[in-house]
Amino acid sequence: MKLQGRSFLKLLDYSSEEIEYLLDLSARFKQMKKEGVPHRFLEGKNIVLLFEKTSTRTRCSFEVAGHDLGMGVTYLDAASSQMGHKESIADTARVLGRIYDGIEYRGYGQKIVEDLAKYAGVPVFNGLTDEFHPTQMLADVLTIKEHFGDYRGRKLVFMGDARNNVANSLMVVCAKLGIHFVACAPKQNFPEASLVEECEKIAKANGSTVSLISDVKEAVTDADVIYTDIWVSMGEAKELWAERIRLLSPYQVNKEVMSYAKKDAIFLHCLPSFHDLNTTVGKQIYEKFGLKEMEVSDDVFESEQSKVFDEAENRMHTIKAVIYACLSDGKDF
Ligand code: CP
Ligand code: NVA
Repeated sequence: MKLQGRSFLKLLDYSSEEIEYLLDLSARFKQMKKEGVPHRFLEGKNIVLLFEKTSTRTRCSFEVAGHDLGMGVTYLDAASSQMGHKESIADTARVLGRIYDGIEYRGYGQKIVEDLAKYAGVPVFNGLTDEFHPTQMLADVLTIKEHFGDYRGRKLVFMGDARNNVANSLMVVCAKLGIHFVACAPKQNFPEASLVEECEKIAKANGSTVSLISDVKEAVTDADVIYTDIWVSMGEAKELWAERIRLLSPYQVNKEVMSYAKKDAIFLHCLPSFHDLNTTVGKQIYEKFGLKEMEVSDDVFESEQSKVFDEAENRMHTIKAVIYACLSDGKDF
């Protein structure tokens, strides 16, 4: 599989076989890491990480993956670079493309990361935009595969703000890999119709389905994977909390919801999560709206069914696979 020179901007750009190849590569990198086998395959190469939004998992995964591969890594945030304020994306891309072998970008509109890729002349990796979060999906599917031994034909239900970046990307990856996808949300929070239509076609070709269902019990029955994400994403206005709490509270993942799913179902969440009062935002929401937990109850988050920390670890192994596949000459190891 030759992915050398490709950018990783959204999963719609990748074939099912290419995604499967990246998952296999991730598992191999994970094993090497566990066994302490060095894999400094990209020594002499450098990557720059541009973050216009905050991050724990994605930033640390790109940094550690880069270091493990023997690369130089530079981190730039919005406050410490010229990007956007004094220099256009096109100019920034052309400058960084002369200095680095690859560029990671986390920020706002998908168009920005697409433009970076257009002008940089080196592979660009999407570390989350308003529309998509493609590296997250590889970690999610790897976690499902590790747990069940397979993913094809399984049923994944996303509950909550089903039109956000994570839900959009989940719908795409499920369609590409033959996983049944259900968006369980109020109608207002269903994914955009054009993306649903596109995913339905892809899913059909891969033997799976895309469904939008507002009734929780109907949606969750027989699910293998229950997935949720925060109700107001980065970059959205704080004023949206009141409306989202009103709309999405019935879609909280709690013990009752988990009881409708298969007995051996797992719970996933990209994180960060508001499942207790140990965060500043969580406390503010509690003071204003009286909610102690939001998209997931603490007892589900902390349960045996919750695989969220396996999922978080897998961010690093899967991001390493993406960097390696796109920046190496594709030689097997
Ligand atoms: N899941 C995820 O992308 O986490 P961060 O925002 O911490 O990178
Ligand atoms: N939907 C969330 C994902 C965080 C990883 C956000 O964009 O804030």
